[in-house]
Amino acid sequence: MQWRFVCLMGLCLSVFGQTPSFLRDVYPSLKKADCRGCHNADGVSSTTRLLFPEESASEAEWEAFGDSLRALVDREHPEQSLLLSKPANRVKHAGGLRLHPGSAEEAKLKQWVQHLATTTATKRAKVTVAPGEKTALRRMTHAQYDNTVRDLLGDNTGPSRQFPPEDFIDGFKNQYTAQGISPLLAEAYGAAAEKLAAAATLKDTGPGFVDEFGRIAFHRPLTPDERTRYLVLHKKGGARLVLEAMLQSPAFLYRESCANPKCRHPPWW
Ligand code: HEC
Repeated sequence: MQWRFVCLMGLCLSVFGQTPSFLRDVYPSLKKADCRGCHNADGVSSTTRLLFPEESASEAEWEAFGDSLRALVDREHPEQSLLLSKPANRVKHAGGLRLHPGSAEEAKLKQWVQHLATTTATKRAKVTVAPGEKTALRRMTHAQYDNTVRDLLGDNTGPSRQFPPEDFIDGFKNQYTAQGISPLLAEAYGAAAEKLAAAATLKDTGPGFVDEFGRIAFHRPLTPDERTRYLVLHKKGGARLVLEAMLQSPAFLYRESCANPKCRHPPWW
C-alpha cells in the first residue's frame, strides 16, 4: 500500500500546489546533520543568523523559523544561497562539510530554498530560539590545545604561542557561550597542524590509523562519512595528511560542554 500513499501524496502536491512543510519535509535532514549542535543560542554559531528553535517548539513556530531562513536565500540566484553553500562548504564554513552535494538531505534543503526564493514571507509566529543546549560546544583554550597535542603527539613545543592572543580573539577565555574561529585563528590552526603533522613520529599503521587516531583526537569513533573522507586523505598522503586534517577539524578543536552526561574529557580538561 505504501507506493499508493506516496503516489497519492505526489498527486496531491502537484494538483493543489500545497505549501511544503519545513518541519516535515526539511528539518529531518538538518537534524540528521546536527546543524543545531552549533546553531543554537549558546553554540559556537550563536552570532550567526541561523539559530534553531527548541525541539519542543510548536508546529507554527517551526514553520515560522523555516520561513525566516529567507534571510539566507539569494532570490536572484537560489543555488548560490548561503543556506546551501555554507553547509556544503562551497563557501568556507567553520562547521565544515555538513550536507554532501548530491545527497538526499541536500536535495530537501534545495527544494526549500527554491520555495523561499519564489514566495514571499507569510508566517509571523514568534520564534523562540533554543536555549543553551546541553551539547553546547566550546573551542579549546590555547592551554588546552598545547596539552592536547602534548598528550596526543608528544609535542612539547607549545604551538599556541604562535596563535593570536585569546583576549584579542574573543574578549574572554572559553566563556560559557562558545566561540567561533576568526580567520586569523583558522590560519594559525592550519599552520600549527602542518608543522605538528610534519614533526609527528606516530607509526602509520595503514588505513587503521584513521580509526585509531580519529578516536583519540575526536573522543569518539569517526562517523562513516568522516571515515570515508579521512581514508581518501590517507591514501593520498598517509598518516601525515590525516593528522594535518584532523588537527584542523571542528571535531578536534571543539568539545562538548560537560553538562552533557555523554561527554568524556581527558583529565586535564
Ligand atoms: C560544528 C559546528 C557547526 C555545525 C554542525 C554547523 N555549522 Fe553552520 N556555521 C558554523 C559557524 C561557526 C558559522 C560561522 C562562521 C562561518 O560562517 O563559517 C556557521 C555559519 C553558517 C551559515 C552562515 C550564517 C550567516 O549568518 O551568514 C549558514 C547558512 C550555516 N552555517 C548553515 C549550516 C547548516 C545548514 C548546518 C547543518 C546542515 C550547519 N551550518 C552546521 C558552525 C557550524
